[in-house]
Parts: sequence; structure tokens; C-alpha cells
Amino acid sequence: MRREIQPGYELDDDRERIDVAAVHRFLSEEAYWALGRPFDTVALLVRNSYRVLGLYHGGSLVGYCRAVSDGAVHAYLADVYVLEEHRGRGLGEAMVRDMVDSGELADARWMLHTGDMQPLYRKLGFGAASQRAMERPSR
Ligand SMILES: CC(C)(COP(=O)(O)OP(=O)(O)OC[C@H]1O[C@@H](n2cnc3c(N)ncnc32)[C@H](O)[C@@H]1OP(=O)(O)O)[C@@H](O)C(=O)NCCC(=O)NCCS
Repeated sequence: MRREIQPGYELDDDRERIDVAAVHRFLSEEAYWALGRPFDTVALLVRNSYRVLGLYHGGSLVGYCRAVSDGAVHAYLADVYVLEEHRGRGLGEAMVRDMVDSGELADARWMLHTGDMQPLYRKLGFGAASQRAMERPSR
């Protein structure tokens, strides 16, 4: 899947095309949930996630997100970002919408964690977790 979402911006879920160094730079230096994440871990997550989605401008990676999933029933959205200079024009929403609404994951139960971006995810159908949800924190 590769498609233009706004003039000059395209989404592409080709795993081989992901610029791992760019993803690592943003996540390890600017993402509050992944500060200091090692390069090898970022590379492993690009390889092992069910689907990775890159947002490209002029051929460069300017946004990213990934899904952890069994491909049908459960899906988890992670590592969503758009570089600051490209924010505020609907690209983040379009990228996440493509991830949660297309293909075999469209009918899955999606989950995520967020510190402050609830308004974005509410627009895409997310709400508070049900009382049945539990979590085992990482060590
Ligand atoms: C979150 C992020 C990907 C949004 O990307 P974006 O391209 O700027 O988002 P959009 O322009 O598509 O905005 C869509 C909606 O998101 C919400 N939103 C965007 N920026 C927001 C902000 N700073 N605070 C609260 N809500 C925000 C709004 O509801 C917005 O809809 P509106 O324009 O109709 O009000 C981007 O701000 C980012 O990379 N932030 C840093 C990393 C991060 O926090 N990632 C999310 C981790 S859960």
C-alpha cells in the first residue's frame, strides 16, 4: 500500500522503506514514552510489528506509527509521531486512520496508551478502556 494523502505527502507500509535511523532519532530523543530506546530495539520493532506505516514528504520519513497484532482480533497502536514542522495539517489523523481503518485490522479491538493526545484518538473511535482491561507494566 502506497498512496498520496495530501499534495506532497504519501503513506507507505513498506517495511523495507522505513528509515530506522530517523525513527530511532525521534523516539529516543523526543518521544516521552521511548526516551533512550536503543537503535537495535527500534530496528527489532520495525521488523516484528504486524504493520508499520511511514509518512513521507519529498521521499523523507516525516511520520511513523506501528501496530502490534494477531492480524484479526487484537491490535495495539504504538510509536505514533509526526515531525514538528509537519504537524497541525491533518497528517497524523490521516496516518492513524489508515492504520486502524484499513485491511484486516479494521475490525480488531484496538488499544493504545497516550499521555495527552486523547482528542486525536477520540476522533478515530477510541474511548476509555473497559473495566475488563488490565495491564502488567514492563520491568
Ligand atoms: C500526535 C501527533 C502525531 C499529531 O499529529 P498532527 O499531524 O499534528 O495531527 P493532526 O493535524 O492530524 O490533528 C488531528 C487531531 O489531533 C488532535 N491534536 C493534534 N495536536 C494536538 C495537541 N497538541 N494537543 C491535543 N490534541 C491535538 C486534535 O484533535 C486534532 O484535530 P483538530 O485539528 O480537528 O483539532 C503529533 O502532534 C506528534 O507527533 N506529537 C508528538 C508525539 C506524540 O505525542 N505522539 C502521540 C503519542 S500517543
